[in-house]
Amino acid sequence: MLKTVVCVSGGGTNLQAIIDGIAQGAIRNVQIVRVISNNRKAYALERAGQAGIDAVCVSPKDYEEREQFNEAFLRKVEEADPDLIVLAGFLVVVPPQLIRRYENRIINIHPSLIPAFCGKGYYGLKVHEAALARGVKVTGATVHFVDEGTDTGPILMQKAVAVEDGDTPERLQRRVMEEAEWTILPKCLDLIAAGKVRVSGGQAYIEE
Ligand code: GAR
Repeated sequence: MLKTVVCVSGGGTNLQAIIDGIAQGAIRNVQIVRVISNNRKAYALERAGQAGIDAVCVSPKDYEEREQFNEAFLRKVEEADPDLIVLAGFLVVVPPQLIRRYENRIINIHPSLIPAFCGKGYYGLKVHEAALARGVKVTGATVHFVDEGTDTGPILMQKAVAVEDGDTPERLQRRVMEEAEWTILPKCLDLIAAGKVRVSGGQAYIEE
């Protein structure tokens, strides 16, 4: 069993896709051992509770110094002793000590085709606003390993989604989730748990 911690900040639809994927057998040999949110009000925490998963909140607002938050966050992860950490709509800067400690064992879902519309300031709806403002005809989602940069780690899987006439950021966000995110994130988890993913020389490889 691949013991997995899922980090969330908001609605948690990607978390739900993982929970459902495990329940339906699309994701094999994965157990979510803990859900961690930086936001006490995140609906993702409700979803975890409904699925009977241990859920905790560690908020930067509860600490005077960022370093104290980073340490507290690392402790909450280490208590769960995961093999893998999934950032599923986790919208705070990941503590650098976490990235070092779990090298090549943290994946993130990003709602664009990296390297487009990624990096500092590109998260959530802002990504789709930028894609529409640029007038791209195709966007999508990316699952990548997390390194110390923002959205710079090895790309594991991408799926393209067409932009349609009349798309609003909200409509595009929803379609990217439905057509890409909720498919590729569960798929990546299943592949990692099956031992089919290798990272080497800054690139991720799927070995079927
Ligand atoms: C998702 O679209 C995810 O790709 C994005 O936040 C949303 C969270 O939705 N993540 C980022 O922008 C990371 N840079 P969810 O809470 O419903 O899964």
